[in-house]
Amino acid sequence: MNLKKMVGIESAKYVKDGMTVGLGTGSTAFFMVEEIGRRMREEGLSITGVTTSNATEKQASELGIPLKSIDEVDHVDVTIDGADEISNDYHGIKGGGAALLFEKIVATYSNKTIWIVDESKMVEHLGAFPLPVEVIPYGSDQLVRLFNSKGYNPKIRRQDNGNPLLTDSKNYIIDLYLEKIENPKDLATWLDHQVGVVEHGLFLDMATTVIIGTSDKGVQTIE
Ligand code: A5P
Repeated sequence: MNLKKMVGIESAKYVKDGMTVGLGTGSTAFFMVEEIGRRMREEGLSITGVTTSNATEKQASELGIPLKSIDEVDHVDVTIDGADEISNDYHGIKGGGAALLFEKIVATYSNKTIWIVDESKMVEHLGAFPLPVEVIPYGSDQLVRLFNSKGYNPKIRRQDNGNPLLTDSKNYIIDLYLEKIENPKDLATWLDHQVGVVEHGLFLDMATTVIIGTSDKGVQTIE
């Protein structure tokens, strides 16, 4: 079976009747949302979903999953989401699909956060995957200059027509081609303090469970 599908289905087992569930974004989370939809139809599972992007909102509504916004719920019981890279100390990079802002907000208000990945996402050090930084358009070229001066190799993410890609919040993404992030906490703190930066894709100490799909050993769960 496709490894992304395998972990998507496995992660849906953590969803119990009556839960408020954060629904992640991306090609792996897609399978988890499909499986929750199946369980609702076939097993009568009843949940409330909190989506992390317009794309997941569309998928979940088409499956008939009742949805609430993050502001309408007291807390989220569990959020299940993909990741672009996970280091051996379980920090992550997210935002390859440009949904990092809502993903981080929903994860922040979740009692439990489960990441679902295929084995290719597990790395020793973060940084081979470009780090997405969501910035407001105003002053974004100044941020590109600032990141360049720090040697962070920034590139504004663009659509096929050459225009900057817009996130669900109508911001830009600047990808930092860092190769290896020596100290994710220092970099996260620095980015947190730059004016114009809305959020970044370093998700540190956020995952409570990681479910990895491997081709030789099947599903591996780390709690
Ligand atoms: C969306 O912005 C991301 O954080 C995704 O969760 C991440 O890119 C993983 O996506 P895939 O499961 O499609 O690789």
